[in-house]
Amino acid sequence: MRILFVCLGNICRSPMAEAVMRDLLMKRGLSEQITVDSAGTSNWHVGEPPHKGTQAKLAEYGIATTGMQCRQLKIGDFADFDYIVGMDISNVDNIRKMLKQPNDAKIFRFLDLTAHQKDVPDPWYTGDFQETYNLCLEGCEALLEKVLADMQKS
Ligand code: 4NP
Repeated sequence: MRILFVCLGNICRSPMAEAVMRDLLMKRGLSEQITVDSAGTSNWHVGEPPHKGTQAKLAEYGIATTGMQCRQLKIGDFADFDYIVGMDISNVDNIRKMLKQPNDAKIFRFLDLTAHQKDVPDPWYTGDFQETYNLCLEGCEALLEKVLADMQKS
């Protein structure tokens, strides 16, 4: 199973979710069966590493960001991934437009899997990377349960 996290810049929220999920998968011995990547709907930061705030917050929790590099969402991602997860509702709208997939259920908003059912606030504007981390962890745990349940069915 392949998961793609998507936000606007691919430097704050989606790399945070990618790194948190990769860490969860490693700890649970699932890194072979489930893989993760992230992308941005914009091309503003292509080639850059994650934002310093994302790097620092992940480092606090012992999670590395080595080698991570911003890339833009591309049309081939629709075929390449089983779950395409937008960090907020505008990301989901943009993903649907860019991938020309108005309805496909594999594209959805991250926190709709949790009790919050809301956007992940953007720390580019709020500066609150702790909130981003907390929501990414909660969302990734919920997403992992969904993926494992889907794997049982298939
Ligand atoms: P992200 O945050 O979508 O979580 O990566 C942003 C990063 C950069 C910009 C906006 C949001 N920007 O305007 O460059």
